[in-house]
Amino acid sequence: MSVVALVGTQWGDEGKGKITDVLASQADVVVRYQGGNNAGHTVVVGEKTYKLHLVPSGILSADTMCIIGNGVVVDPQVLCSEIQSLNAWGISTSNLYVSERAHVIMPYHRVLDELEESRRVSKIGTTARGIGPAYVDKYMRMGIRMLDLKSPARLERALEQALAFKNPLLQKVYGHPGFDPAELLEEYLEYGRVLAPLITDTSLLLHEAREKGLNILLEGAQGTLLDIDHGTYPFVTSSNPTAGGAAPGAGLGPNQIDGVIGVVKAYTTRVGEGPFPTELRDATGDLIRERGREYGTTTGRPRRCGWFDAVMVRYAVRVNGLTGLAITLLDVLDALDEVKVCVAYEYRGERLEHFPADLEVLEECRPIYETLSGWKEEISAVRSFEELPEQAQAYLQFIAEQVGCPVQMVSVGPRRDQTIFLQPVMDTVQ
Ligand code: GDP
Ligand code: IMO
Ligand code: MG
Repeated sequence: MSVVALVGTQWGDEGKGKITDVLASQADVVVRYQGGNNAGHTVVVGEKTYKLHLVPSGILSADTMCIIGNGVVVDPQVLCSEIQSLNAWGISTSNLYVSERAHVIMPYHRVLDELEESRRVSKIGTTARGIGPAYVDKYMRMGIRMLDLKSPARLERALEQALAFKNPLLQKVYGHPGFDPAELLEEYLEYGRVLAPLITDTSLLLHEAREKGLNILLEGAQGTLLDIDHGTYPFVTSSNPTAGGAAPGAGLGPNQIDGVIGVVKAYTTRVGEGPFPTELRDATGDLIRERGREYGTTTGRPRRCGWFDAVMVRYAVRVNGLTGLAITLLDVLDALDEVKVCVAYEYRGERLEHFPADLEVLEECRPIYETLSGWKEEISAVRSFEELPEQAQAYLQFIAEQVGCPVQMVSVGPRRDQTIFLQPVMDTVQ
């Protein structure tokens, strides 16, 4: 049995969906533990491309139980439509469960997300899915939980309490008409009726899975640098994608997690605003964007692209306690004569080895690069480390040394089979 957490090590979109899908064939249970439908995971299986936002990427593996944990904020409208799409594609969701403790994203959260963003002097560039406002209500202790959707009396009370705050705010500060509690009650009770069979005590399901000796994969969304505590605050999301968030977000003890895999893109991308020291605003950046099809899965925005930043990933190794790396999109770099790795920053004449907390410092950091030879060879058909061109092997080894963590997997294309295992990740003996 093993319980493995999988986290993004950069600013999201590292290919967590693909790696989760690959590992799901070895996992009995896959759990999302934070975030919501701000996530966008593209998973390619055979000829078909699936875009998932809320349902764990393990859903494409038959027989794998999938759990949306208590740490996730759930938009029931999105969940219902994602389930419908999956079923229309012939994917069963009979093994999907949602924590009764998970908080619900309401329409006023989505509206407030946009209105708050429009009022910000310095924009965050949120996905406008209501994620931040839903977590605000959770911590304000006026949130609505999935279990409330099953009880008309409780949902009515919860809505009354929430709208007593939200409507005056919407009307007086933003000039928005506000929401009618009766309409929301009807709509959300209907979601409750549809989703009732899925809503349960998912921590208990995990406990039972552990007792049976099953393999569990805890799937993080977003990435370390978008973490509310460890990311480039305030240009972050409103949850803890880092591995520490996996235990409370799933309902396990931290001592029950055996390993933490960091998914690392072979270069760096970012959607939304905020500093990005290795950003390439030139033809190389454009080439990476086109070869990697770097356009947001959720919002369609072009992703900002740049060289691999070892300072950032070294920090991700530290704050997640990473035990192994899964390096993705290595094939995107096939066309380059040379590849650069940022090994430290230069700040006002000083060399920084560690990622700074102060964004004003980060804004001024200039990357110190080491340049390695490119391999100028297509690697998407390679299936072992030894078969990779020497320069690609050297690049992977350099990254591992720089960040201080071994490479366990390498991805050379979006498909399942385009994956190289250097070391096993999940326990294969049960
Ligand atoms: P996530 O949010 O971390 O799951 O990542 P996204 O799905 O948003 O973005 C990763 C993109 O890269 C998706 O379009 C994947 O299909 C694609 N992808 C994943 N791994 C590889 C790879 O090794 N090579 C290439 N070329 N594409 C990949
Ligand atoms: P996956 O799981 C990349 C970014 C947004 C914005 C900031 C805050 O696909 O890796 P939010 O809507 O969460 O309040 O927005 O976080 N962001 C992501 N960027 N990948 C994601 O998810 C993201 N989820 C949020 O662009 O900058
Ligand atoms: Mg994504």
